Amino acid sequence: MRVLSGIQPTGRPHWGNYFGAIRQYIDLQDEDESYYFVANLHALTTVRDARLLAGYTLDAAIDLVALGLDPNRATLFVQSDVPEVSELCWLLLTGTPMGLLERCHAYKDKKAKGLNADAGLFTYPVLMAADILAYDADIVPVGDDQIQHIEVARDLAQSFNHHFGQTFTLPKAKILDSSAKVPGTDGEKMSKSYNNTLEIFEDSKAQRKKIMRIMTDSRPMEEPKEPTGDHLFQLYSLVATPDEIASMAALYQRGGFGYGEVKKALADAAERYFGLARERRAELASQPDKVREILADGASRARKKAGQVLARAKQACGLT
Ligand code: ADP
Ligand code: TRP
Repeated sequence: MRVLSGIQPTGRPHWGNYFGAIRQYIDLQDEDESYYFVANLHALTTVRDARLLAGYTLDAAIDLVALGLDPNRATLFVQSDVPEVSELCWLLLTGTPMGLLERCHAYKDKKAKGLNADAGLFTYPVLMAADILAYDADIVPVGDDQIQHIEVARDLAQSFNHHFGQTFTLPKAKILDSSAKVPGTDGEKMSKSYNNTLEIFEDSKAQRKKIMRIMTDSRPMEEPKEPTGDHLFQLYSLVATPDEIASMAALYQRGGFGYGEVKKALADAAERYFGLARERRAELASQPDKVREILADGASRARKKAGQVLARAKQACGLT
């Protein structure tokens, strides 16, 4: 089984990104073969500042390695380091019906808001199909907002195969378990756009401050509380050990405690949980050349595979 996924470099990762996506991608690195890339070509549709995009791209790679992606087991690279994918994208574009792309939500949503969409955004799903098909990926772990794009990749592969003969492997989406939405500091879904995030690599003092300000209800301290559904308890359950979670649940049910205590326990548990990743991140960030080496090695492995698939596709459609 070959697993592949792309991660857009668009900002600092928060707990929602980690528990809802990144951790689950990384868990799949033990499959036969896995490819992970930083999707900087896709990010170019929204990040229009050269320094910012270059910085975000390196940061995203550092984050992934710090969080446990092992470049010896998985192939980690930057999307734009594999030009074969852009060439394959053209081959696919020539067979892509306009109507198919008009129905894709990234473009449709932007148009519906009356915003100007460019051809990059319009053809975004075709580049994504090229990303997937270039590596003969079988499984593509994605959040539910990306399922439509995997369907497009399957459609394009199928129609190319039908027209030119068996060329591409048909990919399948593996939908990430987002059943447990991570709540933010205000109890709503954690999201950059709601300004309620706890970042994974935030300075621990700043994070502690944010945690101490998490909104809670104003029930009296003596009243026993049901832990399920309490966002502070949900956050705690993500980073505490099973024993700690059980004791905290008992404390809620017994009552007679202040939320301040829970927040302190949450800040401590978060520090323990992300401590190693934070150390690893600091170390990697101080050696950017080492990270660039990892990415160069990943790109060379990725190009080898993508080159084979591109040659197959060119042969199939008469570009010999
Ligand atoms: P944001 O809402 O902060 O802009 P993104 O849309 O960039 O986050 O999220 C990237 C991925 O992280 C999504 O595919 C989703 O699976 C996951 N994710 C984001 N926020 C949460 C959350 N609060 N709970 C669970 N998963 C989340
Ligand atoms: N569009 C994806 C996102 O925004 C990122 C991405 C680009 C991707 N190419 C991909 C994901 C290929 C999976 C496979 O999350």
